Amino acid sequence: MSRPAANPHVESLRAYVPGEQPQGGGWVKLNTNEHPWPPSPRASAAAAAALADPARLRLYPSPDAAPLREAASRLHGHPAADIVAGNGSDDLLNLLIRAFAGPGRPVGVIDPSYSLYGVLAAAQAAPVVRVPFPAEGRLDPAAIAASGAALFLLTNPNAPLGHAFAPAEVEAAARAFPGLLVVDEAYAAFAEADCAALPARLPNVLVTRTLSKSHALAGLRAGYALCPPGVADILHRVRDSYNLDALAQAAAAAALDDREWLADAVSRVRAARARLAEGLAALGWTVRPSQGNFVLAFPARAGESPSPALAESAFAHLRARRILARRFPNHPLTESGLRVSVGRPEEMEAFLAAAADWTAGRG
Ligand SMILES: Cc1ncc(COP(=O)(O)O)c(C=O)c1O
Repeated sequence: MSRPAANPHVESLRAYVPGEQPQGGGWVKLNTNEHPWPPSPRASAAAAAALADPARLRLYPSPDAAPLREAASRLHGHPAADIVAGNGSDDLLNLLIRAFAGPGRPVGVIDPSYSLYGVLAAAQAAPVVRVPFPAEGRLDPAAIAASGAALFLLTNPNAPLGHAFAPAEVEAAARAFPGLLVVDEAYAAFAEADCAALPARLPNVLVTRTLSKSHALAGLRAGYALCPPGVADILHRVRDSYNLDALAQAAAAAALDDREWLADAVSRVRAARARLAEGLAALGWTVRPSQGNFVLAFPARAGESPSPALAESAFAHLRARRILARRFPNHPLTESGLRVSVGRPEEMEAFLAAAADWTAGRG
């Protein structure tokens, strides 16, 4: 007997392919923008305490992740009632698309940006409208408005490009756009500015945050949405009743409350990012300025300018040395590049040494 048919739009759907996650040690893993250092000891202690408490595991957790929402409220000065917690920000993006998009209600995205959006939209049979990344790096409110999207997902800072639009540009786009503008701030902690204050002022701006990158908790799965009034109620209708487990709630709340840890971690990541960019530029690679915890770098060597083939060659050279970067071969702005996550200083030196060997044609 053959498999029963799924919904037609799911039959034709191609699953999102995450970056390679090699299990086991020995890799310099610079492909999925994880944080290079361990999380706040206060976060680990809170998770351990929750684990050691039999009641915390036996009983259901707070259905709406109250500890995390309250910590996010303290951090941003945003009402806890207008914050929704997610099992990672991917969960929130999925909820937003389920609640606001669907057949005849398109999802707008900047192209290139986070490729998961298209998969989440396709799973709800929602069309995707792609607005090209503006060549001069200025967000065009008219282009966002003309997208006709019910929901527009703006990755800011952009991944994989690293470019960040200023909050004033995002505000101008929101004012021109009748739908819900979601600012995906997965990388905002590493940027010069952020849009976390906008949802309190603009009825159609929502900001998503994750603890995966900024707080070194990718393994835990925790994120949250800063919602304009009325939107949290909509998202609660479509989320799982207990979408965050007790350990994630406890650790995420403690992590958000440890602001000194974050300030120190961000300054170390920024210093390592600057060292990586300088080192690659010294090799003759082109490096896009980045406000995330990664850079998009274009391998080059004497007499050869960047191309997809060169990028593939550099990627393979690095991988053979157990150094993982990420390729984005499907867009003209990224096809000749490698996205390299910012790692610890010794990982940056290992990466730069291998990149230097490749550039010089060694090994
Ligand atoms: C732009 C962007 N948004 C969201 C996410 C997902 O974050 P989370 O781990 O919270 O699901 C990522 C992860 O790579 C990302 O790059």
